[in-house]
Formats: sequence, C-alpha cells, structure tokens
Amino acid sequence: RALAQCRGYGKLILFGEHFVVYKVPALVGAVAAYTDCDCEFLEEPGLTVIDERPAVPHYKVKKADEAQEAIQLTLKHLNVDTTKRGVKLTFGGDLCAVSGIGASAAQVVALARAVGRALPLKMSEDEINAAGYEGEKGYHGTPSGIDNTAATFGGVLRFCRTDGAPIFEKKKLREPIRIVYASTGITASTTTVVGDVRAKKEADEAWFAGLLTKYEALLKRGESALDAGDVNALGKCLDENHALCQELTVSCPELDALVDAARSAGAIGAKMSGTGRGGLMIALTPSAAVQDKVKEALSKLAPQVWTTFLA
Ligand code: MEV
Repeated sequence: RALAQCRGYGKLILFGEHFVVYKVPALVGAVAAYTDCDCEFLEEPGLTVIDERPAVPHYKVKKADEAQEAIQLTLKHLNVDTTKRGVKLTFGGDLCAVSGIGASAAQVVALARAVGRALPLKMSEDEINAAGYEGEKGYHGTPSGIDNTAATFGGVLRFCRTDGAPIFEKKKLREPIRIVYASTGITASTTTVVGDVRAKKEADEAWFAGLLTKYEALLKRGESALDAGDVNALGKCLDENHALCQELTVSCPELDALVDAARSAGAIGAKMSGTGRGGLMIALTPSAAVQDKVKEALSKLAPQVWTTFLA
C-alpha cells in the first residue's frame, strides 16, 4: 500500500457556506486530518469497498447510498468500469467522518488519487480536483466545489465558484489559527438544506440579495483580519457570519447552543460551519489554554469535540 499520496483533507468553512453556491467567494481551511484510499484492480469484475474510516455513530449507514453513488461517479469519470474489471477500495485515515467536515470530498479526492496511481494515470492536481467534484455530485447534487478543492489542495483557501473551473488562491497565514470544532450529533443532508435555501431565495429575491450584500461586506473585513493576523477582528466576523446563517435559516437550536457555550468559555468567535441544520460548529481560540477550556465546555453539550489548527 502506498497511501502517502492518496489523501484528501477534511475542511472547515470560515466564511460563506451557502452563499458560495451563488458564486461569491468564501474562505475555507483544510484541517490537519485526512482520508486515505488504496485501490487494487482484480480479475473478477465488481466493486468491493472496505470502509475503515473513523466516523461518528450512524454516519456511514446514513450516507451508504450516497457514498456508493459518489464512488461510482468518480470511477466513471476516470473511465473505470467495474462491470469489466474488479476494483477493491480500502478507505482509512485519521479524519473522523461527521456531517460538516467535508468527509465525502475527502473520500472522493483520496479515491481519485488512488485510482490515478493504480492505473496509472498522470493527473494534475486540477484533474484530481475535477474528478473529486464529479464524485461529490453523488453526495450533494450540484455542490459549489469548495469541499473537494479544500480536500485536494489543503491550506486556507479563498474559493469562488464560476460557470467553469473554480477560482481559488491559497492564503498565507501569519500564524496557525487554533480551532475547536464540535458536532451536534445531527447528520444533515446538504442537498436538502441547499435546496431549501434556493427555494427561499426564489420566493423572495430581495431578501436574499440583502443578505448577500451584507455577506460580501463581511467577507472583505474577515479576509483583511485574516491577512493582518488580527484574531480578535476575525472572531468578530465569524460571529457575524453565524448571525447571517441564522437569517438564512440554516442554523438550528443545537448549533446556536454550542456557539453560545463556546463564546461563554472564552472563544473569540464562533459559528456553524458547513451545511448546518445539524453538522458542525467552530470556535476560534486565542491560545492553547483557551482552546482547552472551550473544548471542555463544549464536551458537556456535544457528543464529539475536536481541536485542530488551520495553517
Ligand atoms: C457544504 O460544505 C457547503 C455548502 O455551501 C454547500 C456547497 O458549497 O456546495 C452548504
């Protein structure tokens, strides 16, 4: 097994979930945890998937059909036909699969890398990302592509969807950002929640345009704070982004409770991250000591809590 090159990273969205679907920029950070994939070709046709990824309870069962579809779409994109040749895939790594962390994108990007290596195919990083995007459609309908781009390239990215290939650039951070992230224990469907937002937007375009304008101004301030290494200003912007998510109706009482608890324990900013209506929240912490305190406070409410850093 040569897994070192066959990884896809998990992600946390700092700014712009849902807005990013409508071709405005967002900021996303890859976490220091990954899914890896091993691909073996066999004589006997058929697909065998061994999924050894760590995951929160029920995640894999809930996502089983989508995972199957995502794997098939990625294989199809790479011209691998499992009715003609056997494919055995083994997924592992240290990323705990949970709604909000981009586990699906990490999985299909790792898969694209592994198939590319096994065939072998010479694929550029952009081609890996494009294959991951095809796989993501199996999980999420027509996603923005932010998750697979973070999974492929890592780091902190400014990402913008376009009608063609996405436009993105890696941000240079002055210092790593210390994050605590916690799960609500609720697995949300991105396709459903994105669809609900679209329906609300179509019913009231003026309402959505108002939120979009506020978001774009907020992103400018958030990105300047990130560039300047001003964690206090960055934290305030995260708080404001959470408020916008509430207005979009993608937060939920469980997320709001975790966000409040993180702030009370000393986080300098907190928000939901990803699809919402369940999934994850993130808290920005200024020091290792505060990170520990926030983790402790969230552990009393959330079924799973992790610490990480974005760099
Ligand atoms: C999911 O990680 C982020 C969303 O904005 C959906 C997408 O970008 O496709 C909710």
